[in-house]
Amino acid sequence: MIQLEQLHKSYTVDGRQIAALKGVDLHVQPGEVFGVIGASGAGKSTLLRVINLLERPDSGRVVVAGQDLQSLDGAGLRAARQRIAMIFQHFNLLGSRTVAQNVGWPMRIAGWDSPRMAARVNALLARVGLTEHANKYPAQLSGGQKQRVGIARALALEPQVLLCDEATSALDPETTRSILDLLAELNDELKLSIVLITHEMDVVRRICDGVAVLDDGRIVEEGPVSQVFLHPRSPTARRFVQAAEQVDEGTQRDDFAHVQGQVWRLTFLGDRTYEPLLGEVARHAKLDFGILAGRIDRIKRVPYGQLTIAISAGDLAAARQLLATRGVQVEELRA
Ligand SMILES: Nc1ncnc2c1ncn2[C@@H]1O[C@H](COP(=O)(O)OP(=O)(O)OP(=O)(O)O)[C@@H](O)[C@H]1O
Ligand SMILES: [Mg+2]
Repeated sequence: MIQLEQLHKSYTVDGRQIAALKGVDLHVQPGEVFGVIGASGAGKSTLLRVINLLERPDSGRVVVAGQDLQSLDGAGLRAARQRIAMIFQHFNLLGSRTVAQNVGWPMRIAGWDSPRMAARVNALLARVGLTEHANKYPAQLSGGQKQRVGIARALALEPQVLLCDEATSALDPETTRSILDLLAELNDELKLSIVLITHEMDVVRRICDGVAVLDDGRIVEEGPVSQVFLHPRSPTARRFVQAAEQVDEGTQRDDFAHVQGQVWRLTFLGDRTYEPLLGEVARHAKLDFGILAGRIDRIKRVPYGQLTIAISAGDLAAARQLLATRGVQVEELRA
């Protein structure tokens, strides 16, 4: 659905060149929710704005739904942009227009007649749960409600792609969850491809299928979320995962100076997460162990568990073998 090839983009500020994208390749499949995570200034917004050519790259190719956007003329690009909608951190609603008028705005610009527009606005407001708020102004809404207006407006012209620029960063955790749930439902119902940029790994974990880690204008790691989140390889990805885990800082340093023996990280995925495997393995291999860190949660809808344990005694080979036959992945953090 989206193919970005070797994108370069710099800005000139006070006569100095600032490189925001330094050769970025990215591929998003139809119907995929793809996350781009990175620190402030990494180039995330620039990357997102290149996808609809709000920002023109200095070099590289931008292909969306099979169309090379840079080859289009003004009218062609306007038509292509109708299929690529966007939502924003600060919602970008028109303050002097009602909720219904905001949602209808793209249809008005596209020249829809009033009855058709009213029907579509009503359907969209119902879908995002704002029917009762149709005649309010943005200032009368909560942040979560404002973002629902933004989402309804983005869906107005039935886009194939939705670009989300830190769409939940201004929201509290509970509202964030409800907006992410809504995006996941829309992805399911409409087969909408979503590119979502964020600086929070938990946002990626909740709804993304794939993720790219952007650092200083370059993609330093990319893959399925289950891979990058559970087994991050780059220092940047590890930092984002650890920030999401909120584990003890001593454990974060990965040196484990404060514990004895081998340190293993066990990863359980799917239904295994809830099975009493660790007890079975400990009895079988006569392990003595302590738990250093642990988390049980979900990646999108798939449960996972990840435990870091320090093993002070026992038959390690037998433990490793039994864990492998049970489908538990073992990484030795310290041998
Ligand atoms: N219009 C612009 N003019 C000049 N420099 C810009 C412009 N837009 C972005 N930059 C610079 O490009 C780099 C990447 O910026 P970008 O906004 O893409 O980062 P970001 O990852 O979205 O950051 P944040 O998380 O803070 O939103 C930064 O160094 C920024 O200062
Ligand atoms: Mg940004």
